[in-house]
Amino acid sequence: MADTKRQARRERLNAAANAPWLADRMKSALMPEYESDGFPNPVTAARHLGDLAEELGDVVSLSGGTIGDRLPPDFVRDAAREAVDKYPHYPGVKGYRDFRVALAAKLERDNAITADPDDEILPTIGCQQVIDSTLRILLNRDDDVLLFDPEYASTEPAIRMAGGRITPVPLAWDGAEWRFDFEALARVASHKTKLLVMSNGNNPAGVVYTQSQLEQIADLARTLDFWVFSDEEYEKTLFDGAVHHSIAALPGMHERTVTGFSFSKGYAMTAYRIGYMVGPAAVMDHMHSILRFSIQACSAVGQRAAHAVLTGDMQPWLADNTANLQRKRDYLVQRLNRIPGIRCNTPRGCYFVFPDIRGTGLTSLEFCEHVLREGRVSVTPGFEFGRHGEGHVRVSFCFSQAQIEAGMDRLEQAMARLPQPVSA
Ligand SMILES: Cc1ncc(COP(=O)(O)O)c(C=O)c1O
Repeated sequence: MADTKRQARRERLNAAANAPWLADRMKSALMPEYESDGFPNPVTAARHLGDLAEELGDVVSLSGGTIGDRLPPDFVRDAAREAVDKYPHYPGVKGYRDFRVALAAKLERDNAITADPDDEILPTIGCQQVIDSTLRILLNRDDDVLLFDPEYASTEPAIRMAGGRITPVPLAWDGAEWRFDFEALARVASHKTKLLVMSNGNNPAGVVYTQSQLEQIADLARTLDFWVFSDEEYEKTLFDGAVHHSIAALPGMHERTVTGFSFSKGYAMTAYRIGYMVGPAAVMDHMHSILRFSIQACSAVGQRAAHAVLTGDMQPWLADNTANLQRKRDYLVQRLNRIPGIRCNTPRGCYFVFPDIRGTGLTSLEFCEHVLREGRVSVTPGFEFGRHGEGHVRVSFCFSQAQIEAGMDRLEQAMARLPQPVSA
């Protein structure tokens, strides 16, 4: 599509999105005021890059978030196949009881969270549904929400759709790594804070919160009386001996925390669309209504496959997957650090790096457009994860080694063709 045609299309989309009849919540989720702050609108920019990649064709993706080089073990896939024959009916709003019982055992064992399988745990369509539904349950219009920045790109629109007002809490970039900065959180938290939203590990920065950092956050939450929504999608994706801790396990936190988990990322099961949430029974009661009136139930295939994960021996698969991801992380970090103008972090969790590209002289959107046009490789602009993510891009290492190598060859060549001088 020619540039003028693309521009006209963008304007048409924006005009439609701003139509007077459209619900306020949808309009606010599109974040139009980013543009007045000098940023591209993250929602339309993501579409623009997607459209451009489609139009160019033959693009190597280093931008997605799904494990590309392995399937879950045979016994998990067998359980899914069996479900097709043995579980043909609605699984019920609460899902299968044996699944919830297995989830309760896992939460106790892996997360130190004690939860009643009958009224404190519900199956969901991945962790994505937990984000959307929890925010709708917990937030009233204009409630104050603290959100780490950078943070998973879907979270800000979901908070906005639920009516929340966001105060960003910057994670710190020290030139080599991303870090949690308690002072930054303490500065903006107040008695007006209703909710803190976090992903642990953090997508895109790969920050894995330590027990003592979670204790600091929990102390603040109890003192100022706010709730926490903890997205623990990447609890099983950990490197260099990092250990996952759940904030809901800390004293006085179960009663003020909703935690979202998923089988998607840890077990290469993004297509199964199965996750779960745990929290106080009163919140779960509202979640029951949302499930009942929106989706009716989660898929039987997803639940039976996830039950097999919980009751089978996943350890060999997990160990192999982690070693494979860690090798690819190290390869990617080393390749990116060789490129003038780029300084790459070495994340301890998730499967993304979030390097600083400011030395190239490009904004993150310019960088992504440049490598897409000149190298046919896609990476994600940092501002999609919050304003503090600008100056960085997200590059994924969940793909096969061959795909990562091909993508990096293309990215390196595209950067070598960069017209402007580079200040390293
Ligand atoms: C931090 C985080 N939370 C939630 C999700 C949603 O994933 P799913 O619904 O497949 O669990 C993602 C997906 O990329 C993610 O990165």
